[in-house]
Parts: sequence; structure tokens; C-alpha cells
Amino acid sequence: MSLVSMKYILDDANARGYGVGAFNVNDLEFAKAVIAAASEADSPVIIQASEGAISYAGLQPLVAIVRSLAEQASVPVALHLDHGKSFDVIIGCIRHGFTSVMIDGSHLPFAENVAVTRKIVEIAHAAGVTVEAEIGRLAGIEDNVAVAEREALLTDPMEAKAFVEQTGCDALAVAIGTSHGPRKFKGEPILAIDLVARIKEQVKLPLVLHGASGVLADLVQNGERYGARWGGAKGIPDDAVVAAIKNGINKVNIDTDMRLAFVASIRETLANRPELLDPRDLLKPAMASIKQVAANKMKLFDSVGKASGMPR
Ligand code: G3H
Ligand code: 13P
Ligand code: ZN
Repeated sequence: MSLVSMKYILDDANARGYGVGAFNVNDLEFAKAVIAAASEADSPVIIQASEGAISYAGLQPLVAIVRSLAEQASVPVALHLDHGKSFDVIIGCIRHGFTSVMIDGSHLPFAENVAVTRKIVEIAHAAGVTVEAEIGRLAGIEDNVAVAEREALLTDPMEAKAFVEQTGCDALAVAIGTSHGPRKFKGEPILAIDLVARIKEQVKLPLVLHGASGVLADLVQNGERYGARWGGAKGIPDDAVVAAIKNGINKVNIDTDMRLAFVASIRETLANRPELLDPRDLLKPAMASIKQVAANKMKLFDSVGKASGMPR
């Protein structure tokens, strides 16, 4: 099927109360693995590319890969720009076939975040493209951080309401204590799950959880067995992700877990097969590994079997 808008996918997830995985891709291997996992699971899926991914792969080649894989897939696939900060990149994505963009103004003061987001909403909506925006700052909450300092970073529900009313964005990324990458917490994870419900009450829109990778111990150990040095890796427990979805998260961003699985597999193959020369023999097991991670996430987020029940 043709690429669909992210709004179509997220509005269904919001109406039926489940989460959709948004997986970062840079290349054919990741896109193919994720879309294959989604097709087998009858799950809608979001493929997202960062500005870094676009500069690595090239905007048009990346769109061509994802679009043609989506056309062969039996499930809805959206193509989304993750953390768009450059006006030119955002416009390029809209012009070249992305069905959704994120304008990330979360580092800006409220009024400036509203202004840049509103401008992108105007342009994107005229082209039928979905807009995700963000309010609050992604940062792991540590035990030793004072309550006032925590609250300054996390999304404020009333501010979120005003932001959505003033911008007209379609989905809202919220800060509840997660952060990007493999080292999210030094001590025990502290997440403001209850805050998701309080934001949802005010905002009603699909909410987005960035920095949602679990950094599961077995993924880390697989890599470290073959020489990776990922010390201090710690992610979001599965039950916290499930609770966040129950409270109103509908888009769950995953990059790190896929990176861990892919690199661990490459290390294992290189260690066990010194005679290997065909790069495909290196990439095929790595793709199988990330496909499994994506499939596990779709089960965890409860998106399995949902594609065939979506409105036509
Ligand atoms: O949120 C960031 C994503 O993990 C993408 O990372 O900018 O290295 O492509 P990247
Ligand atoms: P992770 O680093 O936890 O996978 O988060 C990815 C993300 O939020 C991409 O926008
Ligand atoms: Zn992110």
C-alpha cells in the first residue's frame, strides 16, 4: 500500500488505546527488517529518519527505499522526520514524500517553540503531512535531582494544552524522564508515568514517548561477549512502557535497542566467521536480529493485529 499519513496511524492508536513503534532507520537493512516485522504482525508501523540519517543516506534515496517497501507491504507505513530542527530539511522532507515531520523546538522558550511549530503546521498541513511537536526537555531523572528541577524539565499539562491550541500540531512528544541513547539512568529508573494521563486529559492528542528503548540486558551482553564496551547501559523497563501506553502514549520511539541488536550481531558474525567475505552474510543475521527486536516491540506496544481493523 502507498505510504499513509502518520495522523491516520496515530488517530487509530489513540482511539483504540495502543502504541505504535516508530523505528529509526538509516538504510535498506533497517527499513526492510522493520517493515517485514510489521507485515508479519499485521501491525501499523512508523519508519522515522533523523537529520543525521538523511545526510547519511540522502533524502531521495531514503524516500525511494521506504516508499517502495511500503508499497509491497500489507500494513500501513508512515515515513516521518525525527527531530526536525532545520527549516530546509523539514521543507525538503515535505516536498519529497515524507508523510509526517517532527518540528523539535523543545530547546526554545515557549513562545518561540509555538511560533516555529505553527509555521511548520501551516506548511505541512497544506501538503497533507502530519506534524509532531515537542514540549518539555528529555532528561533522565536521577534520585539526587531536586523536585523543582525535575518539574522544570518535565512537560507541564497546562502548558501542553496551550501549546497544542496555539500550534494545531497533530501529535505531541512529552518529557516524563526518558532520554536518548543507552545510558538513561545511573541508578533506578524514575519515570513520571502519571504525568502522561494528566497531559492526555488536557490535550487528547496522540502522545509520543522519545527515548523509549529498554536497553535489555541480553542485548547488551550479546554485544559485550564479542568485544563491545557498552558499560553503564540502562533503559526503560518494559512494564513502564506498557504503563505509559495505558496512560495515553501512542507513538513509541525506538532506535538504541535496534542499534544494540544490529551491532552485536555483526560482532558475533565477524568473530565466528573469519573466512567471511560476502557482506550479505554479515548483514542477513543482523537484519534477522533487528527484525526480532521490532517484532517484540510490536507485541509489547499491543499493535499486533491492529492493521486489518483500521478504518479504510
Ligand atoms: O533521537 C535521536 C535518534 O536516536 C536518532 O539519532 O541523530 O544519531 O540519527 P541520530
Ligand atoms: P532511544 O535512544 O531510547 O532508542 O530513543 C530513540 C528516539 O527517541 C528517537 O527519536
Ligand atoms: Zn527522540
